[in-house]
Amino acid sequence: MLFEETKYLDYKFPEPQYLGAKHIHRGWIAQFIPDDVTTVLDAFSGSQSIAYMFKQLGKKVITNDFLSFNHLIGKALIENTSDTLDEFDLELLFSNNDKPHEFDLIERLYADLFFISEEAAFADRFRSNVHKLSTPYKQALALTIMCRSMTRKVTMGHFAHTQALIYAADPARIKRNRSLIRPLKDIFLDLLPEYNAAVFHNLKDNISYNNNILDLLPTLNNIDLVYFDPPYCNSHADYQSFYHLLETYVEYWKDKQFINGTKRYEPKRYSGYDKKSEAVSNLQLMFERANHIPTWLVSYNDRSFPDINTMIGLIEPFRKVKVERKTYHSGRGGKGSVAGSSEILLVCTIN
Ligand SMILES: C[S@@+](CC[C@H](N)C(=O)[O-])C[C@H]1O[C@@H](n2cnc3c(N)ncnc32)[C@H](O)[C@@H]1O
Repeated sequence: MLFEETKYLDYKFPEPQYLGAKHIHRGWIAQFIPDDVTTVLDAFSGSQSIAYMFKQLGKKVITNDFLSFNHLIGKALIENTSDTLDEFDLELLFSNNDKPHEFDLIERLYADLFFISEEAAFADRFRSNVHKLSTPYKQALALTIMCRSMTRKVTMGHFAHTQALIYAADPARIKRNRSLIRPLKDIFLDLLPEYNAAVFHNLKDNISYNNNILDLLPTLNNIDLVYFDPPYCNSHADYQSFYHLLETYVEYWKDKQFINGTKRYEPKRYSGYDKKSEAVSNLQLMFERANHIPTWLVSYNDRSFPDINTMIGLIEPFRKVKVERKTYHSGRGGKGSVAGSSEILLVCTIN
């Protein structure tokens, strides 16, 4: 490999905690990128782990996720070339809540559910100060690190259950994960250096979008390769239920209802990939709308819905498909990573 192709590989993507993240597969996926590819789209970017791998390889990266908190990770780590958080920024972020009546959503909704009330109030205070940071990239970085801190503090790392505080009082669980009882501020300060160090410029104009992929695809030109890692039914397809709290934190909704035991916002954004009744027709539409992009890499797992033959059948009218497999030997590979099952990449090319 030329130095030009490897010079960003020393940057380190902060370890994600996200259902279905493909971070551990990034090296395996990278080998299927054709040499002449310069501009890539990560269509369902989630934690941004694969978008970051593309950035490290020196590609121009267009990244997208329909959830705002994921889009903000893209602003902070993919689009951002140089803004980091310094002592002065921390002083602003940790200063008082000047508008306690406007910024009290987390305490109102989630005190005694996901956090003890002091921690919920701290999250509101921090949120009330984010706009004081001098650039949108610093703001995105601050929210990204706080979302990561909140995820760490909650048992199982998601918000689709109501047992967080009960588990957080369980000595055996605390022993396995001390973050459960650590203050958010301490977790944030621990994570900060890794995130600051992950910001770099690969000399390309990278862009992070926050759209439904079906709307975005027709608006994009001159992309050489798209990576599709959609949610699949049978796995954790309903990302909004698992991560609703993070979306509420960054959006700070004023116009939603908060329902059920977990206080998930309602109405939800439209995904199109979280219900079996719509998933196949929306995959088909997605492939039709990606026809102007020559190479497609599609992540898939052999426990996903629709089954592999249906998936191949959806792609074959447009591209030749080669099935690449990586078999899990342990159950630690993220979504669907049961020992003996396979992570699959459908490599789709014109010739
Ligand atoms: C399997 S995850 C992607 C994981 C990602 N590759 C990673 O390494 O973290 C699927 C993502 O698709 C997003 N998503 C769901 N429906 C979408 C849609 N219609 N358009 C764009 N993104 C969508 C979800 O928010 C979720 O982050």
